[in-house]
Amino acid sequence: MENLLTKESTNKSYNPEEWKRGYDSQPNEYDYWVDNIEGEIPPQLNGTLFRNGPGLLDIHGIPLKHPFDGDGMVCAFTFKNGKCHFRNRFVRTEAYVQEQTTGKMLYRGVFGTEKPGGLLNNILDLKLKNIANTNIIYWGDKLLALWEAAEPYRLNPATLETLGIDYLNGTLKPGDAFAAHPRIDPHSQQDNGEPCLVNFAVKPGISSKIIIYELNSKGQLVRNYSQVIPGFAFIHDFVITPNYCIFFQNAVSFNPIPYLLGFRGAGECVHFQPNQPTNIIVISRNNNAQKPAKIFQTNAGFIFHHANAFEQGDNLYIDSICYKSLPQINPDTNYKEVDFEKLDPGQLWRFNLNLNTATVTSQIIEPRCCEFPTIHPDKVGRNYRYLFIGAAHNSIGNAPLQAILKLDLETSDRQLYSFAPSGYVSEPIFIPKPESKTEDDGWIITLVYDGNKHRSDVVILDGLDLNKGAIARLHLKHHIPYGLHGNWTEKCFI
Ligand code: CO
Repeated sequence: MENLLTKESTNKSYNPEEWKRGYDSQPNEYDYWVDNIEGEIPPQLNGTLFRNGPGLLDIHGIPLKHPFDGDGMVCAFTFKNGKCHFRNRFVRTEAYVQEQTTGKMLYRGVFGTEKPGGLLNNILDLKLKNIANTNIIYWGDKLLALWEAAEPYRLNPATLETLGIDYLNGTLKPGDAFAAHPRIDPHSQQDNGEPCLVNFAVKPGISSKIIIYELNSKGQLVRNYSQVIPGFAFIHDFVITPNYCIFFQNAVSFNPIPYLLGFRGAGECVHFQPNQPTNIIVISRNNNAQKPAKIFQTNAGFIFHHANAFEQGDNLYIDSICYKSLPQINPDTNYKEVDFEKLDPGQLWRFNLNLNTATVTSQIIEPRCCEFPTIHPDKVGRNYRYLFIGAAHNSIGNAPLQAILKLDLETSDRQLYSFAPSGYVSEPIFIPKPESKTEDDGWIITLVYDGNKHRSDVVILDGLDLNKGAIARLHLKHHIPYGLHGNWTEKCFI
């Protein structure tokens, strides 16, 4: 007889055939008021949710090797007086326009997508395709689509028309990068408590340079500093506190030869080194020219995303989603054929750095497979109590994200609202209610792909009580491929 544990781990909470279709391309661009709604959109919910992610998973019928290579497609969900308007547009990057007008695949992808024509057509072709597909943020009166290896693209927030590459009022030069994970310090100490956007760029090499940009709410550069750290750095995300920027330098090696020769994407040449330590790099946000980065070592597995960080006396706490191992991107297997059970799940850990003793300890907070954390925006860099995150339906094993999990870090209470078997969630976003009293008093908005109906729903949950289920479920007329990141603004753009 099977015991319950085995049963839960062997019974899939999802249908892999349905899951796969969430990676179908969405070549169409829409513009409409959502009229198929279950429940009621809270009339106090006013503003725009922008989201970004790969919209095309094939170029003129040639499938991409990895969804991270897909052209950025931005969605805008504008909530106004209990109604919701939807619009999506591809970012008209130089590469997207060229490929769409010529009807040909012209670029190699970072994650292994090759142009047709084999080795000869790919050898020493180092043109990177800036696909602007990872995040989208409204800051300093600009809507910016972000991709970590290149400059941002600016879009018109009302129409999503692409306005072109944006250099952030002279902050960036052509060829500079601007990461896809800006953090907003809600009350920046050095700016009289005003909000400040903090973001970075990495110039990887034998030693790597981390460049940090801090922009005020007008989009003007207020601080710019950098540190050179030993070794190759693959860093997707970071965290901030009032005094520090904190980076986890994943234990990876990089062998560029196969990439230069044209038979591997650059992303395929990054190899996880599970026996090497992770370097935690702590860079001061004050008087940075004088202070070198402090580097701590730990074993953290592989990290894409962090949830938050905060200071307490001489201690720094960082909450991150860690993978025991990183599967090699295999050029011969289709990502849609992934065997979830064979991969390690992302799990939430807390790292404690003591700045005096230079020691690191860590503990697991949540073993359930989870990714894409969100918190109250006022708690960024501060001690916080509540975290919301995409999670698997089952408590053990690795599986697609089908649920939203709420963690109370003070009491260890958990709430889970699951969309299994046919629903697949994207990154949740936490939006505080006007006049909210507690940290969890907000709405959680997530896009849920309905694999049974092959369409996507916008779902609004109540942060105070996920168990209430959807306050509103807005059925779109079509599907949106699984996306990456997005942001909320209180401005209503239609
Ligand atoms: Co990310």
